[in-house]
Amino acid sequence: MPTIIAQGKVFDCPIGAMRPVLLQHEIDLHNSDNVINCRGRGTCETCAV
Ligand code: FES
Repeated sequence: MPTIIAQGKVFDCPIGAMRPVLLQHEIDLHNSDNVINCRGRGTCETCAV
């Protein structure tokens, strides 16, 4: 299982589950303060995942 290091936190992440695991650890996915996003559907291009 890969280990993720993000925003000062370290945790394991099953393959294919990065987005929900990052959210579970309260990691901000977005590169800006963008309030409007597609919630991970891959259409708005605002997130870093
Ligand atoms: S939240 Fe829209 S592409 Fe990631």
